[in-house]
Amino acid sequence: MKVLVTGGAGFIGSCFIRMLLAENSSARVLNLDKLTYAGNLENLADVASDARYTFVRGDICDRALVDSLLADWSPEIVVNFAAESHVDRSILTPDPVFQTNLAGTFTLLEASRRRGVKRFVQVSTDEVYGSLSEPLQATEEFPLRPSSPYSASKAGADLLALSYFATYRTPVIVTRASNNYGPYQFPEKLIPLMITNALEDRPLPIYGDGLQVRDWLFVEDHCRALFRVVECGREGEVYNVGGGCPLTNREVVQRILAALGKPQHLMVNVSDRPGHDRRYALCCEKLHRQTGWRPKIGFEEGLRRTIAWYQQHPEWVRRVRSGEYLEYYARNYERRDQELARLRQ
Ligand code: NAD
Ligand code: TYD
Repeated sequence: MKVLVTGGAGFIGSCFIRMLLAENSSARVLNLDKLTYAGNLENLADVASDARYTFVRGDICDRALVDSLLADWSPEIVVNFAAESHVDRSILTPDPVFQTNLAGTFTLLEASRRRGVKRFVQVSTDEVYGSLSEPLQATEEFPLRPSSPYSASKAGADLLALSYFATYRTPVIVTRASNNYGPYQFPEKLIPLMITNALEDRPLPIYGDGLQVRDWLFVEDHCRALFRVVECGREGEVYNVGGGCPLTNREVVQRILAALGKPQHLMVNVSDRPGHDRRYALCCEKLHRQTGWRPKIGFEEGLRRTIAWYQQHPEWVRRVRSGEYLEYYARNYERRDQELARLRQ
């Protein structure tokens, strides 16, 4: 089985590659990744010397490159993780978000159509459904109401991918996962940001009242769901992938502080994120019914494993929290109110 993975040097893509090579002896993987700020080859150190694994540095928007990789390497399966994946950055700097998430997906779809790829999995997000009030849960048929540049670009890419199935019968499947967490996540997202700040006794910035709800999915459970979808998902279909662990942001951060034995007063309230979605919630019956998948790792265990990983990898943390990260951190947190005021002008 030859799999082209895009964005495989990021958080979820690298977990997918490590697990695929560990669990499937016939798998061969080509990882196409631009190595943006979020891409890190250290995440793949465990497989770097595996003869079944090849890395190519490149952009999914580069038509000539994508086309030649598909022509020369002939993957049966394409799994597209490559994205600008962070909502806050998409608010501050939307241009690369639409380039990669929309135009890049188009480039991959076009090449996959021409080269007769057998399966194209578009890795998407529950954020495309927008904010849902209690007790609603989005099924795959729910209307798409994205509210950030990030989620709008992902919704656009989902629709584009599905249009390739409707029009050309390109064998596309779209997955929409809830918030992932686990080892190797870039410390811009809630859980790794709070763990790494708490470890250094820095303030933990809660947007608004902190009562927003996210449904937490351990990254390995997400990758297992993707394996099931590659194996037995139906072409042209969408599958929700939820962790089944809904929590408010405040509860998540309180648990992190308690687990680390740090004082709760490290939590500080800061100005809310513009367009902040209040609650995400997924109905995952379709995936359960058709593939048998269910998440295996509860939040307590997942958080314990995640915290332990960050405690055991201070060098990884130190390296990713330098340079560009410091600039982003200053914009989004230290100069937060000025930046938000500037965006509204
Ligand atoms: P990430 O930011 O950790 O990694 C993204 C990877 O894509 C990086 O390695 C980066 O270098 C690469 N990349 C970016 N632009 C590229 C380009 N133009 N060409 C090639 N490579 C490029 O992201 P992640 O958290 O691992 O998310 C992976 C996918 O899963 C994304 O599509 C995201 O929308 C989706 N998703 C993420 C979550 C989550 O909670 N993190 C939840 C649901 C869905
Ligand atoms: P995030 O990890 O950015 O994921 P998403 O916005 O894609 O759901 O944020 C998760 C939740 O945590 C979201 O409601 C915003 C909130 N949040 C904070 O309160 N403070 C922070 O510093 C960050 C990064 C997020």
